[in-house]
Amino acid sequence: MRIDIITVVPDLLKSPFEASIMQRSIAKGLVEVHFHNLRDYVTDNYRQIDDYQFGGGAGMVMMIEPIDKCITALKQERTYDEVIYMTPDGETLNQGLANTMSLKQNIIILCGHYKGVDQRVRDHFITKEISIGDYVLSGGELGALILCDAVIRLIPGVLGNETSALTDSFQDNLLAPPIYTRPAEYKGWKVPEVLTSGNFPKIEAWREEKAYEHTKKRRPDLLTDQE
Ligand code: ADE
Repeated sequence: MRIDIITVVPDLLKSPFEASIMQRSIAKGLVEVHFHNLRDYVTDNYRQIDDYQFGGGAGMVMMIEPIDKCITALKQERTYDEVIYMTPDGETLNQGLANTMSLKQNIIILCGHYKGVDQRVRDHFITKEISIGDYVLSGGELGALILCDAVIRLIPGVLGNETSALTDSFQDNLLAPPIYTRPAEYKGWKVPEVLTSGNFPKIEAWREEKAYEHTKKRRPDLLTDQE
């Protein structure tokens, strides 16, 4: 998968791709991430990428021309499956959307800043708008990172044990069951006996039951969504 991220603050984006699973996915050649600084696509001397709103109102608006130039240059090199705009009024990111995005080959992610982008960018270039939740960030960059992390870990081969993504919370509309590791007893607090029994069908049944109980208690909406 290739991800092209368009931003005015590339420095905000780089380090998360230099550690842990995202770094390894790049090292393994499963993912390519490229950053594009919008200011490199500005023709005027002031490197201006934003301007006042027509009609008045607080906050600057990102201009269409640099964004057009950047997206058009990328599209000349390859075909993109999606051109995503990170925005609080987009479709809320969830596991289903991350699963769908993980199947794409090439995506562009445009990070908004200031008040956002000129509406014509959204009308003519954007194919999908994604929000990471009902709150407003100062830019789309942190949202883009969250989207990348959620998507990249789902790409086959990225996680060592592929089943570990399948047993994540939300994959089957259930939260994950409790997990334990050694020691089997600590300060008198014991690991549930079934987990050390070696009886795998019984362990599986226990996990399913706990996942259901946990979901019912914390996120009953997930269970009704399924019906
Ligand atoms: N940009 C600003 N707020 C955002 C949000 N909640 N999700 C995605 N992009 C954003």
